[in-house]
Amino acid sequence: MQPQLIFLGAPGSGKGTQATRLIKECGYQHLSTGDLLRKEVKEASELGKRVTAIMNAGKLVDDNTVLELLKKNTDLASGAYIFDGFPRNGDQAKLLDEVVLKGSNSKAVYFEIDLDLLFDRLVNRRTCGKCGEIYNLKFKAPAQAGVCDKCGSTELNQRKDDVAETVKHRLDVFKETIEPVLKHYESEGRLVRLDASNGSDEVFSSLKSLI
Ligand code: AP5
Repeated sequence: MQPQLIFLGAPGSGKGTQATRLIKECGYQHLSTGDLLRKEVKEASELGKRVTAIMNAGKLVDDNTVLELLKKNTDLASGAYIFDGFPRNGDQAKLLDEVVLKGSNSKAVYFEIDLDLLFDRLVNRRTCGKCGEIYNLKFKAPAQAGVCDKCGSTELNQRKDDVAETVKHRLDVFKETIEPVLKHYESEGRLVRLDASNGSDEVFSSLKSLI
């Protein structure tokens, strides 16, 4: 069986973009805690109402809330996953091993990139509200402005946390929390590093050769 993949990296480093490509080619399932949380917010569930302000401010939601959501949406018997956005800190890294992976074969991929490159990527990101395709007004614009290439929807949205002030805060949170996560996987020989600063095609080729 393919190893379970854990995508680590700063906001905007390309985790979601590469996960989408890998799923198409290699049949993985994508489990993004950010997407799961945004769905709760959109549906205005009790959980969604509780986390809206936290997410809009670019802060992390508490570990237990995210873990419960992750558990509810994971069934390892159904095949290999790409875990995207979890873990965010050392405690979450331990929880993922103990509560979800439970000894399954897994590999963590760290999307390594100079954080100065990420501001432009994030404030220019647009996501199709219908099919989830990810665009960038600067680096990957849709062929026709405002229209999704993939499904034709005109609902290309900017995420609430992709505004300048919040982006800065998200990058600070990342800097403060990533080291214990990297150590967790590195100490067990489960970490591979991916140069995420190149164009999307080049990053995808490197990713495939690493996994
Ligand atoms: P989440 O949704 O996980 O967001 P994030 O980690 O901030 O990551 P992003 O989705 O912003 O970045 P990405 O790496 O996927 O970039 P993408 O591929 O889209 O989390 C959001 C919030 O939810 C958190 O702030 C927190 O509140 C909460 N949360 C989630 N998980 C949590 C947890 N475990 N614990 C607690 N709270 C949690 O690319 C970005 C842009 O760049 C796109 O426009 C794309 O087109 C472009 N791009 C991608 N690759 C390239 C390239 N190679 N060259 C040029 N442009 C590129």
